[in-house]
Amino acid sequence: MKFFRNNQSSVSGLALAALVSVSSCFLEATPAFAKAPAKTQPAILTASAIAVADKYSADAAEQIFKEGGNAVDAAVAIAFTLAVTYPEAGNIGGGGFMTLYVDGKPYFLDYRERAPLAATKNMYLDDKGEVIKGMSLFGYRAVGVPGTVDGMWQAQRRFGKLQWKQVLAPAIHYARDGFEVSQQLQDRRDDAAKDFAGKTNFDTYFGTLKQGVNFKQPDLAAVLTRISDQGAKDFYSGKTADLIAASMRGHGLITKTDLQQYKAVWRQPIQADWNGYRVYTAPPPSSGGIGLVQLLKMKADIAPDFKDVTLNSAQYVHLIAEIEKRVFADRAQYLGDPDFYKVPVAQLTADAYLAKRAAEVNPTTPSDTKSVQPGLGTSMPEKVETTHFSVIDKWGNAVSNTYTINGYFGSGVVADRTGIVLNDEMDDFSAKPGVANMFGVVGSDANSIEPKKRPLSSMSPTILTKDGKVSLVIGTPGGSRIFTSIFQVITNIYDFNMPLADAVGAMRFHHQLLPPNTIFWEPYKPIEGELAKQIEAKGYTLKGQDFSGDIQAIKVNGDTPDAAADPRGRGVTRVIQ
Ligand code: GLY
Repeated sequence: MKFFRNNQSSVSGLALAALVSVSSCFLEATPAFAKAPAKTQPAILTASAIAVADKYSADAAEQIFKEGGNAVDAAVAIAFTLAVTYPEAGNIGGGGFMTLYVDGKPYFLDYRERAPLAATKNMYLDDKGEVIKGMSLFGYRAVGVPGTVDGMWQAQRRFGKLQWKQVLAPAIHYARDGFEVSQQLQDRRDDAAKDFAGKTNFDTYFGTLKQGVNFKQPDLAAVLTRISDQGAKDFYSGKTADLIAASMRGHGLITKTDLQQYKAVWRQPIQADWNGYRVYTAPPPSSGGIGLVQLLKMKADIAPDFKDVTLNSAQYVHLIAEIEKRVFADRAQYLGDPDFYKVPVAQLTADAYLAKRAAEVNPTTPSDTKSVQPGLGTSMPEKVETTHFSVIDKWGNAVSNTYTINGYFGSGVVADRTGIVLNDEMDDFSAKPGVANMFGVVGSDANSIEPKKRPLSSMSPTILTKDGKVSLVIGTPGGSRIFTSIFQVITNIYDFNMPLADAVGAMRFHHQLLPPNTIFWEPYKPIEGELAKQIEAKGYTLKGQDFSGDIQAIKVNGDTPDAAADPRGRGVTRVIQ
């Protein structure tokens, strides 16, 4: 293994040369963040691999691998780079989840945003108790305390091999020297700008972001350089913390104390055995890991009903919708931040419980929605614009990371003199908790707003292993569509033996209990023609959604990784020897 080697030979162009020189000079400047070279490990795979949301983050990861970094180093470099080159969802002003498999052991890092200390349960309600439209979505009061920088810091400190400055170097380069804007990024900017107009300072920072231009972010470059020099401390108690707090003063709730008190948390990932594989996925405050395990196990429980049923036929869609109905009934009632609310994880994923739920599936017609719902749950509409990347190194370590600022460009607020796009994650709380369900649990109270609480998420970065070795690294954006999308790709691969790229590119659909008996289809592969007629004949309503997900996945075949980026997005894969 070549350690700390700055090899730019296979990554061409001035851009990478510049970042390499930044990286090199940083090596001498910060002995405090230096790491002792790790012992040489034998490679167990023929190559490292990545599936990421854009080509710049792919270049960054490739460079990090060439410098001797491992999957965690590459993941942190990708995350910081996407904060610059994929500003609609990549971030340092938001939060996320990282599922890791390092040296044969699973880990999970929760760096989800938290509610500020001044947040209150009814902060988005008017004096009649009604939700004030848009208040949790746009502008300063929508912002949760960001966790991404502490998350990346903790992950890299614990498991990375390279120096901190090396993993920041690509992002600094792209912020300082610019990157070429894609049409998709401009389209997303244009859409978001309409929502932010007159409410935030978004246009001051992103008004000139147009397809084809070389877009530079000097304020963000200065922030990233300080983080590179000082670590996460700068963001949470240094100059960057001062600038964020100053931006918020008089507008939003976040103070320097909020930032100083923020900590990412290492949690036990959800673990489940399925189909000869061990599934590691996101625990609460994500609903996604529990949902994914419930979907996988219930489908296995009713395997006889699926016998001879063609993938994505009307009967297949019906059976999956029946399972999804039951998963979303649990989700609306029982899930929230485990630091505030005792989430019955073991019960919700127990084989006996899921077998009982699966036995309630009606094999021929849709179950009555009310009979499935445990109480008067809410459908909890969610933003779908998050981003995911998957990484594996040749030593067999893997990172599955999903992070978000919620909607594209988050709240639309850019912290002054920082270029940091701040999230609107407060919208993932229940602004107006519901009523008691049959188990005495107040519907959605698990996810009501409280200071320092993390809002419920659907992000489900997932890793499957077999016999202790990584088999699949997978995740996607998509709000409540996240775990139903991951589930479909997993079953495409393992139940239907599809090659990875086909499994990722195949048609997907979604049902979530409410609206009743509604199957959502996606623009990438619409449900139409004969299939649409057959599904409608079963009693379902079909509805288009304007989002298709963006799966980034790596599958290991023997000792060789294969990677697939969703054809629905601008993702890129690399297999790096
Ligand atoms: N903001 C989307 C999610 O956390 O699932």
